[in-house]
Amino acid sequence: MVPVRAACALLSLAPLLVLGVPPIWTQPEQVHLSYPGVSGAMVVTWTTFNKTESIVEYGPLGGRPFEMSTKGDTTVFVDSGEELRKMFIHRVTLTGLKPAAAYLYHCGSDEGWSDVFSFTALNDSISFSPRFALYGDLGNENPQSLARLQKETQLGMYDAILHIGDFAYDMHEDNARIGDEFMRQIQSIAAYVPYMTCPGNHEATYNFSNYRNRFSMPGQTESLWYSWNLGSAHIISLSTEVYFYLEFGLELLFKQYEWLKKDLEEANKPENRVVRPWIITMGHRPMYCSDDDQDDCTTFDSYVSGTVWSEAGMGMMGLYQVRRGRKDTKPPAPGLEDLFYRYGVDLELWAHEHTYERLWPVYGDKVYNGSKEQPYVNPKAPVHIITGSAGCRERTDKFNPNPKDWSAFRSTDYGYTRMQVVNTTHLYLEQVSDDQYGKVIDSIWVVKEKHGFSAWF
Ligand SMILES: *[C@@H]1O[C@H](CO)[C@@H](O)[C@H](O)[C@H]1NC(C)=O
Ligand SMILES: *[C@@H]1O[C@H](CO)[C@@H](O)[C@H](O)[C@H]1NC(C)=O
Ligand SMILES: *[C@@H]1O[C@H](CO)[C@@H](O)[C@H](O)[C@H]1NC(C)=O
Ligand SMILES: *[C@@H]1O[C@H](CO)[C@@H](O)[C@H](O)[C@H]1NC(C)=O
Ligand SMILES: *[C@@H]1O[C@H](CO)[C@@H](O)[C@H](O)[C@H]1NC(C)=O
Ligand SMILES: [Fe+2]
Repeated sequence: MVPVRAACALLSLAPLLVLGVPPIWTQPEQVHLSYPGVSGAMVVTWTTFNKTESIVEYGPLGGRPFEMSTKGDTTVFVDSGEELRKMFIHRVTLTGLKPAAAYLYHCGSDEGWSDVFSFTALNDSISFSPRFALYGDLGNENPQSLARLQKETQLGMYDAILHIGDFAYDMHEDNARIGDEFMRQIQSIAAYVPYMTCPGNHEATYNFSNYRNRFSMPGQTESLWYSWNLGSAHIISLSTEVYFYLEFGLELLFKQYEWLKKDLEEANKPENRVVRPWIITMGHRPMYCSDDDQDDCTTFDSYVSGTVWSEAGMGMMGLYQVRRGRKDTKPPAPGLEDLFYRYGVDLELWAHEHTYERLWPVYGDKVYNGSKEQPYVNPKAPVHIITGSAGCRERTDKFNPNPKDWSAFRSTDYGYTRMQVVNTTHLYLEQVSDDQYGKVIDSIWVVKEKHGFSAWF
């Protein structure tokens, strides 16, 4: 009897023994792609917990596997939580890819390789009609749209994903283990298509360090603001958070503003605007919204110094506006609505509100339809879309019962947006409801025979 008992004791210990074996710290994880804005290039980013080399081995799909190999850089990211967890972020830029060709790759080093993934190098033709999925506010818990996005991405429905701020809820939590888990969760999308981001308020802890360290967007701003081109679109990603977290530097707000101005000026040079007429911005906190929370977008009429009254109630919210800037800073901080209007931005994508809302063409709180019958044919002001209902632990928001005139369509369903920049005159948008099993609940064509400031008149 004794030996049996001993065997039982050993068996019952087995799970503990397995748990006692440490993970392989040199094993790559959290693999994701981004487009550096250069034709024929792609950036692969991943994490290990011990220092290793940074290598991507790749080759054309259908060809000899891993016939090419590129080395990159490793940076050490130390989270600012009390454990000061340390991780190694690996970045490799693949260049010389054949536009529109498919590749197989894995990443890592001789101490551990990732699974095999594939991607298609972005078609760099200006007549290419890229398809995007857009959303913000996707968390680890309750990521309701994720399964649908995984399947659709793997089916090849998207050329790129735009995540318009608010990740994981929150990446810094549990000594940044929530960030690790989030990046593992989105690998099923982000390892296959460029996953392009902008920061949201949920990234603010420790001066956005998890966001700045984990993503690899184009430019030299640690992914805070940048622009890139695809098809006939010039896409600008920005931080609305510079208007709110002045403790991290008021200079960031002005730096971004100056950069935006320069970028828009360049994009508006006739030789540029003619090939990339669509200027699309993405930023986390919207200028307009009709939700019933008290976010700054709900206080459109309230912009005065001091304590303010607004339809959303009394508060200081009106001082902090992405739309009209801030008057309580020295010097006062310019808002973004006039800037974007002046440079003829066509489409402004936002999130933060956990709902979907489409606006009629709007400027200065007033509607400027192309015509009453066809509001989005030659609209006389930018078109705004708010899409922050991908799914997170905070669930969805509610709307106020009396939206203003600019509110065209609203939904509190979980979901995300699809966009196709079809050609220089036609852009298509549709909203997918995950609650309704993928049903398209809203769609528009934005048609513009003319782009730029002069198109408003
Ligand atoms: C590997 O990483 C683990 C976890 O971060 C750490 O405890 C260990 O000291 C590291 N080992 C080396 C050789 O860096
Ligand atoms: C890129 O897209 C354009 C427009 O759809 C197409 O004509 C061209 O063949 C594509 N390029 C490649 C290399 O497939
Ligand atoms: C926050 O991070 C930005 C980007 O790296 C940097 O420019 C800024 O100085 C930082 N602010 C503080 C207070 O450390
Ligand atoms: C804009 O167009 C929509 C749709 O036709 C219409 O309901 C709305 O009243 C229009 N607004 C203005 C100010 O013309
Ligand atoms: C642009 O796309 C639209 C929608 O598919 C089409 O009707 C239109 O003819 C295209 N325009 C050009 C110039 O190709
Ligand atoms: Fe947010």
